[in-house]
Amino acid sequence: MTDEKKALISPSIIASSLSTMGEMVKDFDPAVIDLLHMDIMDGLFVPNLTFGPGYMADLMSRTSIPFDVHLMIETPERSLDRYLELKPWVVTVQYESTRFPARLMGLIREAGALSGLAVNPATPIESVYDIIPYADMVLVMSVDPGFYGQPFMPAALPRIEKLKDFLVREGYNRVKIQVDGGINRENIGRVVKAGADIIVAGNAAFKDGSVNRNVAELKAAIREFLS
Ligand code: DX5
Ligand code: ZN
Repeated sequence: MTDEKKALISPSIIASSLSTMGEMVKDFDPAVIDLLHMDIMDGLFVPNLTFGPGYMADLMSRTSIPFDVHLMIETPERSLDRYLELKPWVVTVQYESTRFPARLMGLIREAGALSGLAVNPATPIESVYDIIPYADMVLVMSVDPGFYGQPFMPAALPRIEKLKDFLVREGYNRVKIQVDGGINRENIGRVVKAGADIIVAGNAAFKDGSVNRNVAELKAAIREFLS
């Protein structure tokens, strides 16, 4: 017990069975699973298509676990309201998907959710610095978005450290760092040590077996790495 740092884990449901998730979600233990990560993909911003607000609303009625919504869609301003009216915990827009990220984050906050801003691996992390006042969370992508099960890009680690340094230096201690893509038991400790507060896990959360056990093991891997 040398470090107090605790990270939240947000399993990404696209790595599981979307057609049976309504039943499965009833077994997800809210004491273990902190958030549920919703990857909303439109086939335009990313080359994959998932689900929308109707599916999400149905799922939300079946669990008390707060929802973490990651919008990978073009012109998110067109459908943002549909997600906000569901009252998720956080709604994240991709920096690259809109010319008006600060305005959208303002709308998200006005609706009572936390505002998130996601940054792709090819976007300089400094690009978001000027609009941090509008963000409650920055999502550092550690893969190009679109699919679960891709390998973690190691360049994400110095990007997380750089962002963390900036947040500490400028006094933005309230802003959380989320990291998404390719995180597993082997690398999760390094990601948290670099500065992540919230970890998204798709493959690692749902692969062979119980999501409750997988997430508990990811948390144990963080404790082990930091001890
Ligand atoms: C990638 C998505 C991720 C993905 C994570 O486009 O935003 O949330 O589902 O899955 P893993 O952890 O398997 O990379
Ligand atoms: Zn995601």
